[in-house]
Amino acid sequence: MEINLKVNNVHAGYGAVKALQGVSLGLHAGQTVALLGTNGNGKSTLMKCLMAMVRPSQGEIILEIDGVQHDLTALSTEDIVNLGVALVPEGRRLFPKLTVEENLLLGAFRKDAREKIKENLEHCLEAFPILAERKNQLAGSMSGGQQQMLAIARAIMSAPKLLLVDEPSVGLSPLLVSQTITKLKELKDDYKLTVLMAEQNFNQAMRIADYGHIIVHGEIVFHGDVSTLKENELVKSYYLGVA
Ligand SMILES: Nc1ncnc2c1ncn2[C@@H]1O[C@H](COP(=O)(O)OP(=O)(O)OP(=O)(O)O)[C@@H](O)[C@H]1O
Ligand SMILES: [Mg+2]
Repeated sequence: MEINLKVNNVHAGYGAVKALQGVSLGLHAGQTVALLGTNGNGKSTLMKCLMAMVRPSQGEIILEIDGVQHDLTALSTEDIVNLGVALVPEGRRLFPKLTVEENLLLGAFRKDAREKIKENLEHCLEAFPILAERKNQLAGSMSGGQQQMLAIARAIMSAPKLLLVDEPSVGLSPLLVSQTITKLKELKDDYKLTVLMAEQNFNQAMRIADYGHIIVHGEIVFHGDVSTLKENELVKSYYLGVA
């Protein structure tokens, strides 16, 4: 499966707030790309633009699947999910009053995923033993780390090709952050996913990313492969907001 994402000069905002000011980035099949930045710099807004939950005022978002180009700015969220894009949203957004299993099943509503629902559920429960153990527990009563795993597993239930993960580390202890990041890498390898991950935790993101973009005030101020990012002093200062 050849999959490429091209974001070209995307501008987006909320009324007078300019959240993205000409963002361009690319993603190739099998890559894990990190979108790095501190609070309020536009990471979630870009994720929402990719899912048509926010419409760019300018720019292009092209998803190419096996040579066919899809303009995501012209599609609905449902169409985008149907193409095989899944978002693990910021703050998990689970259904707290439904069980773990019910939350997982709701992740499988797209047509291709519905056909393989039993198989996908089995795979998910295998990949996340804690969810198998707790499949009848209410999602809202799971711990923060367990809820993050559930949110990721729910996205996997839609059998995506491109997985978008918005700040998986938020609210988790360092050990759980590390476990979550490791799990994302395992899933990526098992399911042959292409991953775009928004993260504030530079060191954890760098453990699994191939490439990274640093976003500051809605603009990509630096991008490079992991060794370039790690070695560049400017990156640290941008990232820490002292540039
Ligand atoms: N619904 C909204 N209405 C108005 N302004 C918004 C809305 N959502 C986001 N913004 C603003 O857009 C800018 C970018 O926000 P965004 O949520 O994309 O940042 P972020 O990088 O994801 O931050 P965080 O790390 O805190 O999640 C911020 O200034 C934010 O206040
Ligand atoms: Mg965010």
